[in-house]
Amino acid sequence: MPHSAVLNVMIKAAHRAGRSLKRDLGEIENLQVSLKGPRNFVTAADRRAEEIVREELGKARPDYGFLGEEGGAREGADKNHRWIVDPLDGTTNFLHGIPHFAVSIALERNGAIVAAVTYNPANDDLFLAERGKGAFLNDRRLRVAGRKNLAEAVVACGLPHYGRGDLDLARAEIFAAQQAFAGLRRFGAATLDLAWIAAGRFDAYWERDLSPWDVAAGILLVREAGGFVSDLDGSEATAATSDIGAGNDTMHRELIRLLKEAGRQQADALPAG
Ligand code: IPD
Ligand code: CA
Ligand code: CA
Repeated sequence: MPHSAVLNVMIKAAHRAGRSLKRDLGEIENLQVSLKGPRNFVTAADRRAEEIVREELGKARPDYGFLGEEGGAREGADKNHRWIVDPLDGTTNFLHGIPHFAVSIALERNGAIVAAVTYNPANDDLFLAERGKGAFLNDRRLRVAGRKNLAEAVVACGLPHYGRGDLDLARAEIFAAQQAFAGLRRFGAATLDLAWIAAGRFDAYWERDLSPWDVAAGILLVREAGGFVSDLDGSEATAATSDIGAGNDTMHRELIRLLKEAGRQQADALPAG
């Protein structure tokens, strides 16, 4: 299937970085048995992947700005375009040799996400989207799932780690979701959670406290697959949205309603003062 020139650049960058991560994943299995574990090795793998992406994108579009998780923000001469990159989303999975992680690349034009590539090199799933042109998985057109019945829905979420401070709210939300949906999943790579909504695998997804590189590509994938993605108040998501909810029209609406209600109940249960 022919892609636009800029999408080809993004695919090439994701493939090159993905090959590097896949090689490194092989090494990680050997390092699990060592006392120090593979942590330093993973940090290096992550940085290497971002360097590859930056180099590939920079060769083709030297003037664009760049926001990467590892290297931070770099202004470009072209103020209208910015790459948003997570070279390795799902680091904890990668660290444990779990083959569920991805390279995620989004292109923002004047603040709107216009192209997205999310690539899991472990199983070769390549998710693509361009604004107005649809979303694809390995050249197959994607549509979000059509399910309307919450009791049949499989829903992905994030889980805050112990130190983050909003555990009570997270518990209230999870409790509400457990009562409403068929099943909850926590797979550990936000960009793939969103891509899997686009692919109709998950019916809905929510997570708090994410960063632009976690959500930018996935937002476009979901929209181009006919889904809805917003912050948890229901306002349209952008790359700056850190608390995110997604699904088809019904699932998205019901998810936001259910989370708001859970938040209200949790706030009411807090001791006064
Ligand atoms: C993380 C993953 C994870 C989400 C975290 C993110 P990283 O990104 O997307 O699913 O729960 O909040 O920070 O650190 O693996 O790039
Ligand atoms: Ca991430
Ligand atoms: Ca990352």
